[in-house]
Amino acid sequence: MPASPTPAVADEMDRDCWNNAAQSWTTFVQGGLDLHRMFVHGPALLQACGEVGGLRVLDIGCGEGWCCRELARRGARVVGVDISDLMIARAGSYSTDEPSRIEYRIMDAAHVQCGDWNCKFDLVTACMSLHAMRDPGAVLRAARRVLTEGGRLVCSVPHPFTHAQNDRQSKRCQVDGQLWLQAGGYFDEAKEHHVRWNVPRVGATWTTIRWSRSLEAYWRLFANSGFVVRDLREPFPDGDVATRLPSRNSADVPEYLIFAAQTEPC
Ligand SMILES: C[S@@+](CC[C@H](N)C(=O)[O-])C[C@H]1O[C@@H](n2cnc3c(N)ncnc32)[C@H](O)[C@@H]1O
Repeated sequence: MPASPTPAVADEMDRDCWNNAAQSWTTFVQGGLDLHRMFVHGPALLQACGEVGGLRVLDIGCGEGWCCRELARRGARVVGVDISDLMIARAGSYSTDEPSRIEYRIMDAAHVQCGDWNCKFDLVTACMSLHAMRDPGAVLRAARRVLTEGGRLVCSVPHPFTHAQNDRQSKRCQVDGQLWLQAGGYFDEAKEHHVRWNVPRVGATWTTIRWSRSLEAYWRLFANSGFVVRDLREPFPDGDVATRLPSRNSADVPEYLIFAAQTEPC
């Protein structure tokens, strides 16, 4: 069999995992139950994108389309890509006021340079998806190739300091309210973790795959893919919002990190 010029980076297990999670994830997000997205990392990502009216945006690992819809609502023309056909089906069936400004495709983000886009993108976004990608370097290099010169990349990821290994690493003691950070494994790069989600608000459990990376590893990923990191943000909820979150951890330790990068001149 002839070798494929663009080998698949995500594997069947990744696709199956996200297909299995699609229904619960959609309920979580579209039901307004993902409070950290609504109040912490979501607003920070959108703010880091800046004014997007009239921009052409590619959202990689778009899932059920939350980021695409938010950007379209702000006037962008958005293409969302995801490996999960069931996530894309959920995204496509969401009724929005701006359907003509959003297009969804089932596609490995590492292959976006092969897409039949009729022009380059001004902005690539990755909303909580880079850590769910098996080879983010390949994805970022592909993203670099579909961006205009001076084009931007804005990504949100779980903060490397508190999501070092396995599940969420900051735990609050039920008895005295003290917050404990479970340390270890920070330098165990590119280790695959299967994370079991148990979210009573959704009334479901599901499993996803993620890879932990140190801050330095993230930095190198951007640099080696032709990007210069221009801004870093560590969003946290202020007092009022913090009281509405089921876990107050994000008010005390960094749980999310936003990277805003720009293509390096060739
Ligand atoms: C944590 S979810 C985030 C989804 C969405 N961005 C959001 O904010 O809800 C990660 C998504 O990345 C997708 N994904 C993982 N690897 C991918 C790849 N190589 N190419 C495209 N999508 C990928 C998964 O299917 C999943 O929908």
